[in-house]
Amino acid sequence: MEPPANTSPPNAEQIDYWNGPVGQRWLAYNDWLDERTAAYGRAAFAAAAPQPGEAVLDIGCGAGATSFELAHAVGAGGSVTGVDISAPLLGRARERAAALGLPVEFREADASRPTFAPHSFDLLYSRFGVMFFDDPTAAFAELRKTLKPDGRIAFACWQGPQFNDWYERPLAAIAHILERTPVDTRQPGPFAFSDPDRIREVLGDAGFAGVELQPFATPFYLGRGATREAMADDAMEQVFRVGPIARLLEPQSEEINARARLAIRASLLELACDDGLEVGGAVWVVTARTG
Ligand SMILES: C[S@@+](CC[C@H](N)C(=O)[O-])C[C@H]1O[C@@H](n2cnc3c(N)ncnc32)[C@H](O)[C@@H]1O
Repeated sequence: MEPPANTSPPNAEQIDYWNGPVGQRWLAYNDWLDERTAAYGRAAFAAAAPQPGEAVLDIGCGAGATSFELAHAVGAGGSVTGVDISAPLLGRARERAAALGLPVEFREADASRPTFAPHSFDLLYSRFGVMFFDDPTAAFAELRKTLKPDGRIAFACWQGPQFNDWYERPLAAIAHILERTPVDTRQPGPFAFSDPDRIREVLGDAGFAGVELQPFATPFYLGRGATREAMADDAMEQVFRVGPIARLLEPQSEEINARARLAIRASLLELACDDGLEVGGAVWVVTARTG
């Protein structure tokens, strides 16, 4: 007998994930996360070079920080649409847009589905919002259709775990507590586009041309505070509340979590310096044209 067909809509797991407790936590830590990821977004923004008058789509826009930067760049003659699957994050984005008086439209939709009219945008941009598609090739093919004939895409995505201390350092600290399973970089998640060959393959198969990857690496302060202890506490909040380490530890026992907490804190504390607790982060800044 044939196995039952998988009837879940595409990206159902991610839609649940970003609308459940994780979406709420991202909301709570949004300002914190915006500060930590700003430099990577700006690198992609520079590569995107949004121009006055352009129509831009911000993919996986979250609470909208990058959409507002794009709105300033395209000015009153342009337009910015932010698309995301997370209702709580979009709620915050709309509040912020109203407070800032910026005419950004936020749409709750799966960016991989045919939501926008063909040839709507000059530019597709994303800061860490394109690594969560079940079928990235189909998603990018769909997104490509929304671009004007001479349109372009620019986004930032994380390089491999080994280049990202914010992930690697806590994980190394608990290697004796929790068996490490290698990251499956073909599954949706922060490292889904860490392999440059995969990025080229996915975008090429989706019909994009001129795919270019620029490495960009810069440290950021994972923890801030008046003392080294306070910096470590701040960093620990993040490690245990949002992101892949939190996801890994959540299903573990209280005992494992308690041991992990001690080990990670001790390891992070070593990184605290005068201005904060600094970790390394590295991304690919990816650009391509409609073809
Ligand atoms: C790592 S967060 C980045 C958020 C935002 N770009 C930022 O830099 O703050 C990833 C975002 O992608 C969104 N996302 C994931 N899959 C998506 C999809 N299929 N369509 C639209 N948004 C998606 C999530 O809801 C989340 O807001």
